[in-house]
Amino acid sequence: MAAQPAFRMLRWLVRSGTRGCSSGAPVTQPRPGVAPPPTREELPTRLQYLREHAAPFSAFLTDSFGRQHSYLRISLTEKCNLRCRYCMPEEGVPLTPRADLLTTEEILILARLFVKEGVDKIRLTGGEPLIRPDVVDIVARLHQLEGLRTIGVTTNGINLARLLPQLQKAGLGAINISLDTLVPAKFEFIVRRKGFHKVMEGIHKAIELGYNPVKVNCVVMRGVNEDELLDFVALAEGLPLDMRFIEYMPFDGNKWNFKKMVSYKEMLDTIQQRWPELETLPEEESSTAKAFKIPGFQGQVSFITSMSENFCGTCNRLRITADGNLKVCLFGNSEVSLRDHLRAGASEEELLSIIGAAVGRKKRQHAGMFNIAQMKNRPMILIGG
Ligand code: 5AD
Ligand code: SF4
Repeated sequence: MAAQPAFRMLRWLVRSGTRGCSSGAPVTQPRPGVAPPPTREELPTRLQYLREHAAPFSAFLTDSFGRQHSYLRISLTEKCNLRCRYCMPEEGVPLTPRADLLTTEEILILARLFVKEGVDKIRLTGGEPLIRPDVVDIVARLHQLEGLRTIGVTTNGINLARLLPQLQKAGLGAINISLDTLVPAKFEFIVRRKGFHKVMEGIHKAIELGYNPVKVNCVVMRGVNEDELLDFVALAEGLPLDMRFIEYMPFDGNKWNFKKMVSYKEMLDTIQQRWPELETLPEEESSTAKAFKIPGFQGQVSFITSMSENFCGTCNRLRITADGNLKVCLFGNSEVSLRDHLRAGASEEELLSIIGAAVGRKKRQHAGMFNIAQMKNRPMILIGG
């Protein structure tokens, strides 16, 4: 494969002893047989050169709009022990045959490759990732990857209290727990299963084990749970929660319609009426959330505004589905099977060029909420959030 210009530059920098993301070599230690480090006199020119020309991040993971994808979400399973209305069609989803799902070894090969290229955060999703029998082992093995700073999980919380101590020991650094209601009977309606108390137990276990903040994801749906906004916010007063209200998004089979979506502005307005002292927090880089603080509260409140104000401009995420497809946009239906290439014996370079091409085709932004609603995509459960 002909290396892209930026990548060639990166390789030159790496060879000449300057840390590129795939080298892991410290700035001042050149590899044997390559040029010595610049002298003190040369340094300012060299630094200037680097500032102007360096691709500090893998060209394969950089798209044509300059977005650097350092965050990978890996779906560990298509299965789930709940049946949330906003995620799954009532009739369930046809599951991929087991042999076509990524094996643990394949997940690790891909994770290693992405981390080598500069991914520093991996989130395990699903379906429900905590029903995969070897999830603790996967976390432990990911934890050994040099350069990976954060391993997170997005879970429905049912198995969390039981597994969290082991997961934490294995290296799990961040947790998002889905909870859409504080009313047990409503919980059963939304997720079509029992388990409210287990989720609450999971949240408290996460707090007890020191996760801070513990992120709680609440998909807000008109006529279902928008009347509980203030109760959810009140939870963050005495607990280190990041209460994240998510605009309801359309996916195949989830019966989305515009009227059921409660926009960020509307939610903010409701909360501000009760807590006018709500303050905006500075935006974290590449964060998909708009965060707020209420003075005196231990926790905070955030909004994921995928529908009303997309955050495509700073998107740094890539996704791998449980059947091994790379998905460059949550709302895009273009996918490429990394599994097939892996199983056909593709080399690392070949895999990288396939990944690079897919990332290169990533669109500037998603098609807008009304178009997304018309589009063919996977149901959320088969994407992994
Ligand atoms: N709209 C918004 N968020 C969704 N999630 C799943 N389906 C939807 C949807 N239709 C989010 C939930 C859950 C995570 C797995 O994905 O918040 O926490
Ligand atoms: Fe399962 Fe999460 Fe989908 Fe609910 S949202 S059905 S918990 S995967």
